[in-house]
Amino acid sequence: MNLINKMLAAHVAVLALWAVSAQAATDDAIAERIKPVGEVCVQGQECKGVEAVAAAAGGGAKTPDDIIAKHCGACHTAGVLGAPKIGDTAAWKERADHQGGLDGILAKAITGINAMPPKGTCADCTDDELKATIKKMSGL
Ligand code: HEC
Repeated sequence: MNLINKMLAAHVAVLALWAVSAQAATDDAIAERIKPVGEVCVQGQECKGVEAVAAAAGGGAKTPDDIIAKHCGACHTAGVLGAPKIGDTAAWKERADHQGGLDGILAKAITGINAMPPKGTCADCTDDELKATIKKMSGL
């Protein structure tokens, strides 16, 4: 091997190393960015990351639990702004009695009522999905 060839070979080796470490840095950066999704999953608890991934994958119909976790729960878990609480069937029943039953409060949920935003922020929820979700939250 003459000198020129040796120099070229060294050069190629350096370039190859550089390429490998650049790729490693990129993989690290990607791992860093997607990490929180993995970290919020605790066994025995709700895993929002998995739901988000399932939703992103376009996974069919939304279950009431999905919808509550992503939308309604923000207000209805703690009763924010006077929202009837999940599981407080008496409070939901009183509302239903005033609005002519489950379909009555469903109609209000669709249009929105006072601090309750239209469709509870789930703009792409169907009426059936909202109804199932209201049943689940209210126990009616
Ligand atoms: C930003 C907070 C917020 C979110 C998010 C939210 N709600 Fe509400 N909701 C309220 C409040 C506040 C009320 C009580 C409104 C009132 O009567 O003044 C309410 C009331 C309701 C009622 C009773 C309506 C009536 O006629 O009395 C239903 C049904 C309902 N919500 C369903 C849902 C569903 C289903 C979702 C999720 C898809 C949802 N809400 C998301 C705040 C929220």
